[in-house]
Amino acid sequence: MNTRPRQHLLAIEGMTVSEVVALLDLAENYALLNRSGKTQRDLLRGYTLINLFFEASTRTRTSFELAGKRLGADVLSMSVATSSINKGETLLDTAATLNAMHCDLLVVRHSLSGAANLLAQKVEASVINAGDGTHEHPTQALLDALTILRHKGRIAGLTVAICGDIAHSRVARSNIHLLTMLDATVHLVGPPTLIPSEVESLGWRNGQNAPRVAVFHDMAQGLAGADVVMMLRMQIERMQRSLVPSAREYFRFWGLDKEKLRYARPDALVMHPGPMNRGVEIDSGVADDPQRSVIKEQVEMGVAVRMAVLDTLARASVRHAR
Ligand code: NCD
Repeated sequence: MNTRPRQHLLAIEGMTVSEVVALLDLAENYALLNRSGKTQRDLLRGYTLINLFFEASTRTRTSFELAGKRLGADVLSMSVATSSINKGETLLDTAATLNAMHCDLLVVRHSLSGAANLLAQKVEASVINAGDGTHEHPTQALLDALTILRHKGRIAGLTVAICGDIAHSRVARSNIHLLTMLDATVHLVGPPTLIPSEVESLGWRNGQNAPRVAVFHDMAQGLAGADVVMMLRMQIERMQRSLVPSAREYFRFWGLDKEKLRYARPDALVMHPGPMNRGVEIDSGVADDPQRSVIKEQVEMGVAVRMAVLDTLARASVRHAR
């Protein structure tokens, strides 16, 4: 077993099962602590957490802020406009500034895939990837897994249908890695234009004979046998050209409503990372159905997972170990 603590959280790909399980266990404890209304403000006292968001965010940024504060860290949030400046250059300049400020934990979101990795090489702080381009969004996959675990009691053996704009989704990528690592089967469901061509070649087929990732271009087939239906936002801002006809047309074929949900198992959970486009990829009738939708609980688990990540990385922090 790897006993040396990890210094950054950049991607689910490359993590070990024991690292993931340890984070999920700790996050479950934090979920219970949060529900009890208690905090642990001594844990990160003296630590500085900087949220560096080059892209818009509501849930992720506020939940990292809350997580840091509940653990007693000094928390600072910076929203940075990327505009016309060369992105690589901005990042490296920012890294130098942050080093000078002696920040311990750096949460970064950027439109460039690989931005968090780049920063991790240049700053002394522990870097947490809060979404880099279309690459990964590891804490989202962890909070999704925690939400599923709380309802289903396991991940292994479940079938999770991830539907919609897979091609532009860092959430989908992180989830595919995490869910297959924990022995779930993943169905990717969407129109051919929104399924990445590299699906087969990325090594997302885990195991010799049992393919863990299968692609479907039809909701009825893709949702059949699903224990979880995870809907994704249409990420228009990442599309180079129009890949779908109209929102109405899209909803007709790919939008999750009560009728299409019937294709899944009767106890299937409905999930969405947010922000939702109601009437495009999901209908309010299922999004707000307390019997099926765990979308609000995903947000709640987001705080718990981020507390677990901050706690774990802070304990491995180089600066404080000296
Ligand atoms: C996601 C993101 O930014 O990658 N949102 C989130 O973090 N909850 C998904 C999205 O933008 O659609």
